[in-house]
Amino acid sequence: MRLDVNGETLDTDPRAGQCLRTLLREHGHHEVKKGCDAGDCGACAVLLDGQPVHSCIVPAVRAEGSSVTTASGLAPDDTLHPVQEKLIEHFGFQCGFCTAGMSVTASTLTAADLPDLDRRMKGSLCRCTGYRPIRAAIEESVLGPVRTTGRGEVDPVVGRSVSPEAARRVVQGLEPYTFDTSIPGTLTLRVLGSPHPHARIASIDTSAARALPGVVAVYTHEDVPGGRYSTARHEHREDDPDDTRMLDEVVRFVGQRVAAVVAETAAVAEEACRLIRVSYDVLPAVFDPEEARSAGAPLVHPDRTPDDRVAGSERNVVAALHDGFGGDIHAALAASEVTVTGTWQTSRVSHAQLETHGSLGWLDDDGRLVIRSSTQVPFLTRDEIARIFDLPADRVRVFAPRVGGGFGGKQEIFTEDLVALAVLRTGRPVSYEFSRADEFRRASVRHPMRVSVTLGATRKGELTAMKVDVLSDTGAYGNHAIGVLFHGCAESITLYRAPTKWIDAEAVYTNNVPSGAFRGYGLGQVILGVESAMDMLAERLDIDPFALRRLNAVREGDPLHEEDDKYEEDLVWGSYGLDQCLDLAESALRTGNGVAAPAGWQVGEGMAVAMIATMAPRGHIAHTSVTLRPDGVYVLSVGTAEFGNGTSTVHRQIAATVLRAGFDRLRLRSSDTDAVAHDTGAFASAGITVAGKALHAASLALEARMRRIAAEITGAEESACRLEEDGVHTPNGVVDFARIVAAAPEAERSEHGLVATGSEFGDLRSIAFNVHAVRVAVDAATGTVRILQSVQSADAGFVMNPAQCIGQIEGGAAQGIGSALYEEVMMDAGTVVNPMFRQYRVPQFADVPATEVYFADTSDDLGPFGAKSMSESPYNPVAPAIGNAIARALGRRPFEQPFSRDRVWRLMQG
Ligand code: FES
Repeated sequence: MRLDVNGETLDTDPRAGQCLRTLLREHGHHEVKKGCDAGDCGACAVLLDGQPVHSCIVPAVRAEGSSVTTASGLAPDDTLHPVQEKLIEHFGFQCGFCTAGMSVTASTLTAADLPDLDRRMKGSLCRCTGYRPIRAAIEESVLGPVRTTGRGEVDPVVGRSVSPEAARRVVQGLEPYTFDTSIPGTLTLRVLGSPHPHARIASIDTSAARALPGVVAVYTHEDVPGGRYSTARHEHREDDPDDTRMLDEVVRFVGQRVAAVVAETAAVAEEACRLIRVSYDVLPAVFDPEEARSAGAPLVHPDRTPDDRVAGSERNVVAALHDGFGGDIHAALAASEVTVTGTWQTSRVSHAQLETHGSLGWLDDDGRLVIRSSTQVPFLTRDEIARIFDLPADRVRVFAPRVGGGFGGKQEIFTEDLVALAVLRTGRPVSYEFSRADEFRRASVRHPMRVSVTLGATRKGELTAMKVDVLSDTGAYGNHAIGVLFHGCAESITLYRAPTKWIDAEAVYTNNVPSGAFRGYGLGQVILGVESAMDMLAERLDIDPFALRRLNAVREGDPLHEEDDKYEEDLVWGSYGLDQCLDLAESALRTGNGVAAPAGWQVGEGMAVAMIATMAPRGHIAHTSVTLRPDGVYVLSVGTAEFGNGTSTVHRQIAATVLRAGFDRLRLRSSDTDAVAHDTGAFASAGITVAGKALHAASLALEARMRRIAAEITGAEESACRLEEDGVHTPNGVVDFARIVAAAPEAERSEHGLVATGSEFGDLRSIAFNVHAVRVAVDAATGTVRILQSVQSADAGFVMNPAQCIGQIEGGAAQGIGSALYEEVMMDAGTVVNPMFRQYRVPQFADVPATEVYFADTSDDLGPFGAKSMSESPYNPVAPAIGNAIARALGRRPFEQPFSRDRVWRLMQG
């Protein structure tokens, strides 16, 4: 058949049943992204004869004789469509995975569509931005003449809102993600999942699958390395239990890998999976975490011991924390003039990043294993793959191109181990890409937690005692179970100055889908309980909620940990901005801005506070280097990944500031194990506070070397030399970059030029705060909650890139609204029953109000240029603020998250 794609004729022969998206991608149109396979997300949108369609649900044969336009064909030659220009100008993307499809759909809108914008853009999901900048871009593109800027501010120094270097490529879909490449001869890997939540494989017959033409290999538990590991990755691998085998003879959740097929095509691999015959001995299963830790419960990992980092497998307990200070908690509560208590239940939340998990592996010319992966942790993945296959680390290379969102979900090994196995065994390139259903059934979710909080206080509102009890459901495996439990119970409780505190917390195995790292790393769940209980106390004592926090929250200089507290001993006060955050959020809420409540709806205001350390505990390591080439170009090498957090832009800004160079003279090489010695990875919001700090050190070291060399060449005083855009200016003349490189001593040279390195070991952590405040309206008749005003103040230290940082906060708020009101991975006897976006409600255009963002004026002693992290924390206070507002509106408090329409309606029915 023949069709026209972006003005060029394409003669092709689609396979039976093939969709337009895969046809276009197979012909190199990688700007058409894959997000869901079901027409729900819009990442694959193209124009078909001028009309926007989701190409994943359009049969390819329907395009015969038609004209197809993708994001890269919306405007001629080197130009961009007006909406693409505006998306850049408004910072309308973060990871950018949705952006090409978003551009296509938005390109068809006119001013007449603006009143109906929410509906017109309903099928275009963005998980990162919160939609506000996308809405602004669309409105401006259809209403007025377009001012073409190409990027935000021109001066690329820190503190300016500079657009990402990749912006033009992102809006056209031309910035490559993991699967936006074609390697001839690549095999496809697919997995057969368990139908049972708990079973032992009695026998497995793969003969029919192996006999199917096109099948290259079939692997079962008898074919894989026997060692156990964790899918979770941390700087210290001992932070997670060794409880996972690549393929196991015991399956512990529905969907767990039973066998892997490697075949010439995806269709053959999937057909072969259906031909595998498995006989299971079904084992008793447990789905409720309270039941799981009770006597007589089925045991999920009975053979694991404390040596495997499993605290008590005889009770299904992975991790436990029973600790406190300040004396007897029961006595302290009994002596308190007032007590409040409550128990909150949080839901299973999917990361729902638009780019699914996946990796692509091959052997390079040297026979070295190379894995291209959508990962937040290339170095930690490389190390564990090398360990599993008993390879020297330098025989494995892992790298990540731009990552299409992660939110913690890609701090795991979910595909790379099987890809490595298949590449090493077959010698051929192999790809394994999750479907959207795989994301729900086989990737991790946010730990559901039951959080009980009891507070004691004086009648004036001063806290006297704080008791917190947490039960975390880690699901079938303990990846991140320990860290999430400890972190969730840390800053959420350290935030307040109660003289007596006690924590009982346990993370428990069940036969549910495994939980894992999620933005906030446990704080979002525990803060829901603590901040809701604080609101109950404020109500009981008739004290303003802001005033109650001012009375009880930690102040600068307060002890941040007990003397024997090894987990928090590296916390220090680098700065303090909570007082400003409380003032900013309160005054913004008092303005009464926002939209009016519908007639007859009940209105309430709520607020909540979150505190977070600026990086992970016990070391987060980054090595970086900066190289000056003779042509004046600086090559920046960092290890951390760009997944929408904006660090690649801030890293360029740091180098541009120190080295007085425009972005056109900076080349960034990142997230590649060949680039630098080591980097812990893009998690715990460490992209600026660790990797950025290391790059700052490398840039300063290089600048000093350049001045020293110029001084030696000219005989000038080094202190009189300064680096400028054309070279080093000395009192005796300008020394250009080529001369500096030529004169560099051997010890300071690489094959490319003059090099300097910088490292950061993250051994001290500072503190950041966020305050979220909302006004909501609730329709008691239907349970519908509408957010009228949303405000967040942030203690981000020096703000390196204001537009990007605002985007992180708006996006965190949007994700918090999703968790608060809509999102829940629902399970029935271990089976996920809503494994697609149509049933799992990610906030859409209409669901997310604009969040007003305010920054405290602080500068941190630890961070580069005084910056703090601000990536995870904006998410944490949102759900409790909304819950508190609902409680104030209705006079009844919701205890079960999400506060969905049916739950709020039932709350009103008593
Ligand atoms: Fe929209 Fe990441 S920028 S999904």
